[in-house]
Amino acid sequence: MNYFAHITGWGTSVPANVITNADLAKIIETSDEWIRSRTGIAQRHIAEEGQSSASLGAEAALKALKVANISPHDVDLIVVSTSSPEHLFPSTASLIQDRIGATRAGAFDLSAACTGFIIAANMVAQSIRSGAIRTALVIGTETLSRLVDWEDRSTCILFGDGAGAFVLQASQEPGGVLSAVMRSDGSGGDLLTVPAGGSKLPTSYQTVKDKQHFIQMNGREVFRFATRVMAQATEDVVKKANFTLDDIDWVVPHQANQRIIETAAKRLKLPLERFVINLERYGNTSTASIPLAAVEAITDGRIQPGDRIVFVGFGAGLTWGALLAQWTGPLPAEKPKMWPYRLHGLYRLYVKLRSWGLRIVRLVEGMVWGQRDK
Ligand code: UT7
Repeated sequence: MNYFAHITGWGTSVPANVITNADLAKIIETSDEWIRSRTGIAQRHIAEEGQSSASLGAEAALKALKVANISPHDVDLIVVSTSSPEHLFPSTASLIQDRIGATRAGAFDLSAACTGFIIAANMVAQSIRSGAIRTALVIGTETLSRLVDWEDRSTCILFGDGAGAFVLQASQEPGGVLSAVMRSDGSGGDLLTVPAGGSKLPTSYQTVKDKQHFIQMNGREVFRFATRVMAQATEDVVKKANFTLDDIDWVVPHQANQRIIETAAKRLKLPLERFVINLERYGNTSTASIPLAAVEAITDGRIQPGDRIVFVGFGAGLTWGALLAQWTGPLPAEKPKMWPYRLHGLYRLYVKLRSWGLRIVRLVEGMVWGQRDK
């Protein structure tokens, strides 16, 4: 049987807290004019205490499931792309699985920086097309504000926090994810990195003193790399699906810098109006930027069912890639889902109680086993 992987649900979540360029100019030597003219960014959303990559990701996921009219219990797999996970382990995906009560789902994180959402969507699409799974959540979520050195004006002006999620579902109707390209060049790994906190440079007094837990970036080199690969990856993914650029309705690029997007548009000889751009209000939210932009264009009616869309991204690794999809929208519901969305607050309480219940059961089991061992 031939299966196609359709994007049938979408959702986003951003912290309410906003930091404008003027706010930044009060803490570092910069200006609204400099930031706007060099990047196109005017403001960014920054997580408050208590918010994290898992909490933002879970919010976005629940909204996406609601659009797709899918219960969390129907999800087979959750793939989370993030460069700011909650921990080295457990995976942020597992924490989101628990928070949304996706009781039947497998879950793992994928690390490919800003390109991660594209790679995650492609991997999930391939699993659906093979017949291995039917329904999956792809989530891009970041709280990069926690990895930013707020005294480094070359990086702290760029990044913002947020999350976006897609539901992908199997259907025998042609459409959905049509092609993808995934590339990497690790020789450029040092151009954009958080050097410490991993196995090479574990946390120590010295690494903290040297600020090696913060993002370090060679902005000019990343800029040069980005302008080259954005256009190339877009052309490659279109060609791979036997289309031409004229067949493409929308390009949803990684929202890093307005000038990078404009250069890519020029190289592709495409009008900027065919690009979905919202970085002015969110900054660079890394792997969340593509779904954040896409969902905005779906919600305001620019993206319509049947449209062909190229998602294209680049980032640390170095990594880059593109994915071409024919837009679908929600599939007809197999059965109406009253639960859990009619009782949203109650559902949240239920998943919390369920999670605590499982912890208590584990505790009691541990005590029983401890008694037996004596
Ligand atoms: O998701 C992928 C992540 N990364 C990217 O996409 C980043 C790609 N790179 C860029 O977007 C740009 O390189 C930046 C926006 C980071 C920097 O813009 P630029 O035009 O490449 O500036 P620059 O690094 O060449 O710096 C030009 C000048 C420098 O001063 P001098 O040495 O010429 O006197 C910087 O010190 O601008 C200075 N500068 C600033 N001035 C005011 C750097 N940051 C700031 C700032 N405000 N925030």
